Parts: sequence; C-alpha cells; structure tokens
Amino acid sequence: MRVDKAKLKELMKNKVVRAGLSEEHADAVADVLLHADLRGVHSHGAMRVEYYAERIAKGGINTNPNVKFEKTGPSTAVLDADGGVGHYHAKVAMDEAIKIAKENGVAVVGVRNMSHSGALSYFVQQAANEKMVALSMCQSDPMVVPFGGAEPYYGTNPIAFAAPSSTGKNIIFDMATTVQAWGKVLHARSKNESIPDTWAVDENGEPTTDPFKVKALVPISGPKGYGLMMMVDVLSGILLGLPFGKQVSSMYEDLTEYRKLGQLHIVINPEFFGNAETFLETITRTMKELKEIKPAKGFDEVLYPGEPNDIQQEAYEKEGIEIVDDIYEYLASDVIHNNNYDHKDPFAK
Ligand code: NAI
Repeated sequence: MRVDKAKLKELMKNKVVRAGLSEEHADAVADVLLHADLRGVHSHGAMRVEYYAERIAKGGINTNPNVKFEKTGPSTAVLDADGGVGHYHAKVAMDEAIKIAKENGVAVVGVRNMSHSGALSYFVQQAANEKMVALSMCQSDPMVVPFGGAEPYYGTNPIAFAAPSSTGKNIIFDMATTVQAWGKVLHARSKNESIPDTWAVDENGEPTTDPFKVKALVPISGPKGYGLMMMVDVLSGILLGLPFGKQVSSMYEDLTEYRKLGQLHIVINPEFFGNAETFLETITRTMKELKEIKPAKGFDEVLYPGEPNDIQQEAYEKEGIEIVDDIYEYLASDVIHNNNYDHKDPFAK
C-alpha cells in the first residue's frame, strides 16, 4: 500500500514513543527510517520498527542515556551514547563533525556504545547538505563469513560516502560490505520472495536462494569486501575501544542488553583543499560526464551513485511510499511485541 511520508513518520515515531523512547529520540529514529523508505531502502525503514520497539520496551536501548561528548583534539571528538538509540546519537555526532570541519577543515568523530543506527546515507547526507564531503561507517552484528571461512566473524559493516555538487544534488554512495545487507534478506522474507544464490550461504556453507535458510552472508568480491569490512571494524570499533569482530553483540541475542556499537564519521570541508565552488562544480561535471557515458547492453543509461535512490525518492514524494500491508497494520496498531525478536539465532528474523 501507499503511505504519505508525513503519515509514515508519525506512525513510526508514535510506535517507538509508545515503546518508551523520548519524543526527541523518537523523532530522529523516525526521520532516519523515513529517509531510508523514501529512498527505496526498505530494508532499513519501517520494517525495522517492530524490532526496535521490542528492544526499547525490554530495556535493550537506553531511553535516558547519560551521554558524554568529548572533544579530544582540534578535529576529533567522541560521543558516548551510553546504550542510547543509534539514529539520534549518530545524527548528533554528525552535527558536531560538521561544526568542527567548518572551523578546522576536517573532523573525525566517533560514536561509542550506541544501538543500531540504520541507513548510513542519512548521516553523510547531513554533511553534503552543508557542502561537506563525508564518510561514515559502523559496526554491525557478526553474520558474515570472512573470505575462506565457514563461520561468521564480521558484520555487514556498511560504508557511506557523500559529495555535494553545485546543483543541490549530492552523490551518495552507501553500501553494506556484503553482497547484500541482512535487511534485504529480511525484506525478501517479509515478501516471501527467493534471493539470488550469490547473497548468502546455508548451515553447510553452501549458497542458498531461500531467505529462511540463510546462516551467513558473504563479503562483496571475496577478499576485497572482507578487507573493507575489517577496515570498518578497525575504524568504528577497535579505534573507539569497543567490542570488535565476533565479539560485537548480536541484534537478536539479548534484547535486554545495550549494544555498544561504534560508528565513525569523517567530514572534509572542501574550502580547506582549494576553491570550494570549483569543487562543487567539478562534482556536478562528474555526475554529468558519468551520465553521458554510452550505456552497455541492457542498460538505458549510466546513473551516478545514489541516483536510483534519488529517482525513487522523487516518485515516492509524489505518489506516497510503498509499504508492506502487514508492516502498516503493525504500525497503526497499539501492539508492542514482547517475544518476536528475542532469541539466540541471529538469522531467525
Ligand atoms: P544497495 O546495494 O542497495 O546500494 C549500494 C549503492 O549502490 C547505493 O549507493 C546505490 O545508490 C548504488 N546503486 C545501486 N544501483 C545503482 C546503479 N544502477 N547505478 C549507480 N548506483 C547504483 O545497498 P546495500 O548494500 O543493500 O545497503 C542498504 C543499506 O543498508 C545502506 O543504507 C546501509 O547503510 C545499510 N546498512 C546498515 C547497517 C547497519 O548496521 N546500520 C548494516 C548494513 C547495511
């Protein structure tokens, strides 16, 4: 079904408030989730609310965290979220990173001890809207086989990058370092669809097309994706003194415990590296030149990274956002589940 974006945000916000989150934190959660759905990243939108609500209700997200923000150097800072909701604290940390980069040219800001923060494009877009270049990366629960391994070690550890142009459009590249994000498997489950055999393996380490049989995901491009997910774990986990690798807490293992995840934002102010206007214009030219490349067989045109999401957003803004009926019904109801997500199997939901 189609839902207007203001209505969808209100439903998502109300649900997490009902679960126990403050209005301020809930507003940020709903905003990040809406951003994902609007951009067609449904794996990180409304479908996650049911899980967040259960975790909040069970005390696994700190609804009244004792947040500490420490400026550790001219261009560095760490925000300790004390088990608070990821979306809000990653957003606040990016606001701080933008301020630092405006003044000092670059900012590296870590977020410690947060819960899941959703689609990372949201945070790099914050910076791009302020004419800054940004990178963001975060830890995620161990569900990916390292290259050559038969059991999970790393998470789907995503990386997002944004660069602003002179037209107001941004290049936004945002990906899990796995062939597919776990949320895409969840999305396939919610629609009862099969998945390509290149996304994941079953309990025997064999490729599977059944989203319900998935026991581990696989890195993009073998050792290269494996190296990237390790880099993300070093920068957003080990650097911040957090649990790393297979020690990172599982999303579904214990919904009463805070998650202690890490995220790292890097913001670069083009003004400190030459003429900022020239930079913005050159990004515009890059986007244009890419689109002028002759398309390969089977393609209508070359799109810049993030453009499929921009196109989806434009359509959804006009026609309403496509939401799975069951998810809408859940959001519109008063229900907060007590035992739908709390289990030992990270691949069960
Ligand atoms: P994806 O595979 O849907 O897209 C990856 C990138 O490729 C996007 O920037 C997209 O715009 C670009 N793209 C796709 N088709 C294109 C085309 N034809 N031409 C040009 N560019 C194109 O993304 P993925 O890996 O499924 O990740 C989805 C979301 O999951 C991301 O927002 C990510 O941050 C989030 N995520 C969050 C995690 C967390 O723990 N917070 C963990 C893993 C993923």
